[in-house]
Amino acid sequence: ETGMFTYDPGYMSTGSCSSSITYIDGDAGILRYRGYDIAELAENCDFMEVAYLLLRGELPNAKERDEFHWTISHHTMVHEQLHKFVDGFRRDAHPMAIMCGVVGALSAFYHDSIDITDPYQRMVAQHRLVAKMPTIAAWAYKYSQGQPFAYPRNKLNYAENFLHMMFSTPCEEYEVNPVLAKAMDRILILHADHEQNASTSTVRLAGSSGANPFACIAAGIASLWGPAHGGANEAVLNMLNQIGTPDRVGEFVKRAKDKDDSFRLMGFGHRVYKNYDPRAKLMARTCHEVLAEVGAEDEPLLKIAMQLEKIALEDDYFIEKKLYPNVDFYSGIVFRAMGIPTTMFTCLFALARTVGWISQWKEMIEDPDQKIGRPRQLYQGATARPFISMEQRG
Ligand code: SDX
Repeated sequence: ETGMFTYDPGYMSTGSCSSSITYIDGDAGILRYRGYDIAELAENCDFMEVAYLLLRGELPNAKERDEFHWTISHHTMVHEQLHKFVDGFRRDAHPMAIMCGVVGALSAFYHDSIDITDPYQRMVAQHRLVAKMPTIAAWAYKYSQGQPFAYPRNKLNYAENFLHMMFSTPCEEYEVNPVLAKAMDRILILHADHEQNASTSTVRLAGSSGANPFACIAAGIASLWGPAHGGANEAVLNMLNQIGTPDRVGEFVKRAKDKDDSFRLMGFGHRVYKNYDPRAKLMARTCHEVLAEVGAEDEPLLKIAMQLEKIALEDDYFIEKKLYPNVDFYSGIVFRAMGIPTTMFTCLFALARTVGWISQWKEMIEDPDQKIGRPRQLYQGATARPFISMEQRG
């Protein structure tokens, strides 16, 4: 009767929307992009194919994929003036703060792609955002390291280019490790979209007012940063380090079940999945592949994570509340094995999710019935009452 949860075919005016991009069955643990199962896409595609699929609705043929990759790779440089913007941050700024700031500032540099009523400008904005996010994420890392930025290389694929911009220095070009590059590419696919999660809903809500796409994606980055959402991958690593050894896992599982204890098992639970997050399974496999490649099969944090998963999945509390590992549970261990610092983990999530955000934004903007978002509330405040003067307030 409050109208709070009635379904609205338009958009977000009551907190829901229609979409044809990503399908999740939380009870069955199913995730599909445009109807294709996530495991098949992760196994058989590269990230550019999946980005094309999310943006345009169909898997590209070889010619379409190559043209799309050429377009994206030739937009990876960022306006040189933006270096000055990054230089304004403290060296110890969190890389997500830099990403949030720089992406929002893109609207001050690319005036020819902010008129959302122009289909061509919308397309250019989409390509610019997908292309420039790896460059901006790598900038954030290089800046924190006090190292010069590395320029993108058009001959590299998306994941290879990112690793190059992260780890190349003027003294030594990063030598692409194909196993790590393939793992990174798969991880980007797994993080690309996920229906109407908090950050995607933020992007849609911001976009529903007609705000430019760069500002909308910056809003998505801000929302993703939270530890309950994209910040969980960084929080999982911090949690595993806090646990310290496999024999202390039981102590922390006990704490996670104590309502009076604020401790939560990071990387566990999900608003939608009440079964195993299909991405977590693929991430666990990638984790073992990467650790084997870098000779870190005995990584202590992996042993703690596996012990934690074993105990939690056998525990009545977690079984009853249907809490399973989610996409963030193993991702941090993989990133760390690749030499990526903890503070960069959520930047990688943002880098991948930009494709989903901008696909969802495009779908919303192109919906002729789209209206400005206006989530409803259930008012629980004071009823009408007479004004009281300062003297009467005691
Ligand atoms: C992502 O929405 C998306 O799709 C997000 C995402 C994406 O791709 O965009 O999948 C990415 O954000 C994954 C989630 C990453 N966050 C974490 O790993 C942080 C730890 N997880 C929790 O904070 C929690 O599980 C949430 C925030 C993810 C969801 O919490 P909800 O909405 O409360 O729902 P739930 O089903 O997970 O919780 C049910 C119960 C609750 O107890 P009651 O209120 O019913 O008594 O389980 C409890 C929760 O308190 N619970 C946990 C827990 N997670 C939930 N108890 C202990 N440890 C946990 N991790």
